[in-house]
Amino acid sequence: MMQKKIDELRDKLRLSAQGGGSKRIDSQHAKGKLTARERVELLLDPGSMEELGALVTHRTSDFGMNEQVFYGDGVLTAYGTVHQRLVYVFAQDFTVFGGSLSETHAEKICRLMDLAMRNGAPLIGLNDSGGARIQEGVRSLGGYADIFYRNVRASGVIPQISAVMGPCAGGAVYSPAITDFILMVEHSSYMFVTGPNVVKTVTNEEISSEDLGGAHAHASKSGVAQLTSANDVECIAQIKKLIAYLPQNCEESVPDLEYEAADERRPGLADLIPVSPNQPYDMKEIILSLVDAESFFEIHEEYAGNIIVGFARIAGRCIGVIANQPMVLAGCLDVNASKKGARFVRTCDCFNIPMLVIEDVPGFLPGSDQEWNGIITNGAKLLYAFSEATVPRICLITRKAYGGAYDVMNSKHIGSDFNYAWPSAEIAVMGARGASEIIFKKEIESANDPAAALLEKEREYADKFANPYHAAARGFIDEVIEPSQTRFKLIRAFASLVNKVDQLPRKKHGNIPL
Ligand code: HXC
Repeated sequence: MMQKKIDELRDKLRLSAQGGGSKRIDSQHAKGKLTARERVELLLDPGSMEELGALVTHRTSDFGMNEQVFYGDGVLTAYGTVHQRLVYVFAQDFTVFGGSLSETHAEKICRLMDLAMRNGAPLIGLNDSGGARIQEGVRSLGGYADIFYRNVRASGVIPQISAVMGPCAGGAVYSPAITDFILMVEHSSYMFVTGPNVVKTVTNEEISSEDLGGAHAHASKSGVAQLTSANDVECIAQIKKLIAYLPQNCEESVPDLEYEAADERRPGLADLIPVSPNQPYDMKEIILSLVDAESFFEIHEEYAGNIIVGFARIAGRCIGVIANQPMVLAGCLDVNASKKGARFVRTCDCFNIPMLVIEDVPGFLPGSDQEWNGIITNGAKLLYAFSEATVPRICLITRKAYGGAYDVMNSKHIGSDFNYAWPSAEIAVMGARGASEIIFKKEIESANDPAAALLEKEREYADKFANPYHAAARGFIDEVIEPSQTRFKLIRAFASLVNKVDQLPRKKHGNIPL
């Protein structure tokens, strides 16, 4: 008797595991996509998956829906482990009604989100959906809003990662948009609020889904996606990598990796800064020399290349790196770099990840384009994000630290714990030429050879101010250090800050200039 009932259960679970059936699974594979179940199995440690709600079905009878019932209702929800750490994951199943979101589909996701919050573990969403279940109308819209609300409540409490691995259109984009990271798969995923057809009707513009909202468009143009990958397998590998750099929740830190002390000197660093202050160099070389081998994980690489952000480890400890890149726009801060930097700083701060800032910034990018696009408000985001951050913060100035950008890039004045400079650092209100043109204007104009006079004044100003010693004399810089010693100093400094306690004034919440 019992065996019969067990067989019945097994049949139901087998049906559930088949999703929309073998034909639709084949069609999913033909598009180069994995099924929801294959994705989750690839993501979670082998044998760790515990599925929830496998027998949930929709409650609609309109439009003949009572004839089409699929166990699981188009979304797989489960908990399990990644790197032996608990995570919660939902994966929309495109083989069931195109992964569209019904009332019950939304309930399953909400239940999972509630569990993730209650148990303090990351939430991973694998999105692949035709949007609101058309046969359900407003019930489906309500389901979306229930998810958005939970995304916001969970923000800053548990890490939330969204992978877009198929369609994600209309209001559905706003759940990923609220989460901490969006990953997209090239050529098989897209995100937009209104698709190519509506765009054509309203604006007459003809554009493909890929060009409008594909992985590349969002990684490089809009900045919506932080990471992209060539296929599903790579995307899942990136999620796992990301999880390794995030804590379980805002009360915890990222687990340290074991580290064996070695020769921490980096003699090659002394040769990296060019003789001419106007010549660029690749900041990534400095980052790679300072952090643990193969630990640097760049985020948002294709967007605003003038600032580099990413996770890394230093002596086994997880840190966030924020660095100006002299190779792009001379490392100037502009609207996009400020937004990118600010977002990353806040991500690090809410998840207790200490920060290393490496600075070579000639200032904010000038121009009407920048002013009209709000460099004031957007630059303020970066300033605000650093000032508000309570995690350990260290700044290293390799070369330029000019003007307002000096203040913004994690200066001592806005709460940085340790500020170092290399002997090549230039810390001043502005560059020597610009400064000379202003303060020696009359002398230069009345000189027999104004060009030679400007050059002389420029040299005079540079000799006086283009160095780290005025800042060091004021204590704005804790130490001027040799490049070769930097990694060693950073290891000690971060270790000394492990128990740092800092609190913001009591408030409801701040009012960051959004
Ligand atoms: C119900 C849907 C569906 C939906 C797809 N299907 N989208 N069922 N509700 N929203 C079903 C199809 O009927 C089909 O069923 C199966 O999923 C696969 O769809 P295809 O069209 O065959 O696949 P494909 O050619 O790959 O095209 C995928 C698609 C397209 C681009 C997503 O299906 C599509 O345009 N769907 C509608 C998208 C949409 O307008 N959604 C509502 C948006 S409004 P069978 O049985 O044949 O396998 C919205 C608001 C959210 O989402 C607001 C939140 C605030």
